Amino acid sequence: MTAFFDNRAEQDATAIPVMRRLHAVRLALCDRLEAIADSLPNDLDRRECLVSARALGPRFFSIHRFEEQRIFPLFCARLGHSEEAQAIVERLKNEHVEDEGYATELREALRTVARAGRAENSETLGFMLRGFFGAVRRHVAFEQDHMLAVLGNETELEA
Ligand SMILES: [Fe+2]
Repeated sequence: MTAFFDNRAEQDATAIPVMRRLHAVRLALCDRLEAIADSLPNDLDRRECLVSARALGPRFFSIHRFEEQRIFPLFCARLGHSEEAQAIVERLKNEHVEDEGYATELREALRTVARAGRAENSETLGFMLRGFFGAVRRHVAFEQDHMLAVLGNETELEA
């Protein structure tokens, strides 16, 4: 039994730095998407569109699953499964679902643009890009302020 708990604590301790790295990955993707938005309508880089489209696929979804399976339960447990903790987790899960829907649409739009070499409607693509990376940046900032602030501090104290 003790071995299980030791191992579990170890797993929890490694999950938090992984989440920090995954945040950095998502923020880097947001920067790429912003650069694409800034390059509209005449300076589009087809390769950048393809690379970003690829990053919006299963890899993007798997980050959400990691958070939901490894981090959110940890957060709820640390806050004694309070109503507030559960409301925060519910909000973040809903944002994951929304972001996955937008990621799928944006992925398709970027592939189309990469194939054609130009955007059929630059304004629409710009709007999609800015809406998406704005939402993802807000989501990451919220997780950092409300989740990692709690989990990070406690991990440092335990270390
Ligand atoms: Fe998240």
